[in-house]
Amino acid sequence: MKGAIAVLVILGLVLGTAWWTVDVAATRPHPAIVEELLHETMEHAVRRSAAAIVAPPLDEAALVTDGADHYFAMCEGCHAGPGVEPSELAQGLYPPPPPLHEEEEWSDAELFWITKHGIKASGMPGYGPTHSDEALWAIVAFVRTLPGMTPAAYEPFRPAAGSGHDHGAHGHAHGGHEHGSSDPGADPAGAVADEHDHHHGHDDHDHGEHAH
Ligand code: HEC
Repeated sequence: MKGAIAVLVILGLVLGTAWWTVDVAATRPHPAIVEELLHETMEHAVRRSAAAIVAPPLDEAALVTDGADHYFAMCEGCHAGPGVEPSELAQGLYPPPPPLHEEEEWSDAELFWITKHGIKASGMPGYGPTHSDEALWAIVAFVRTLPGMTPAAYEPFRPAAGSGHDHGAHGHAHGGHEHGSSDPGADPAGAVADEHDHHHGHDDHDHGEHAH
């Protein structure tokens, strides 16, 4: 009985202290020991959760290129890339999104799990609800080539400015309008996309097939 009361008192003290002292500002990092503990916990949880996943072969060049396309639309804004500075959004996040080209911490299966499920209470989104496993494996195929990649090797993968590969922007903002205003005879890609109304497939990369 005495033991139970002692435990309750200690628990109350811990929670009470947390209530008055925890700082949720994203601009002020956790103390190093807390940060370490949280990262270790996250790492262990990912490894445990991904243990049963078997990765398919990911070396095929077409898969890597497809994944690169997704990477620019869905990941670069936070994780940057070789020779690319982190965006303002990325600089404001805590925990910060690590540059994936500077670390080689995860197996293919673990990269897949993180991309599919995201990481709770961080800015890392889970893309499982919006993307097929096929698309997610393509992303993994590209991400696993990032560690050590030079800016010169990275650059050719990047879409040219204004070429419309950014499905985040054009997929949602212009998807309908483009089809309505274009001449169907002159735009066979647009005409095909019209038949699948949730597809935004008016560029060569057709992100529509991955359920956007
Ligand atoms: C809105 C910002 C954001 C976007 C977009 C984003 N991430 Fe993340 N990501 C994060 C943050 C923040 C973390 C750090 C989480 C943590 O440390 O707990 C993270 C962590 C990760 C990690 C674990 C890295 C490590 O070693 O701790 C991987 C791998 C990853 N993201 C892959 C991706 C991929 C692949 C994409 C695109 C499909 C992506 N992320 C898109 C914010 C983002």
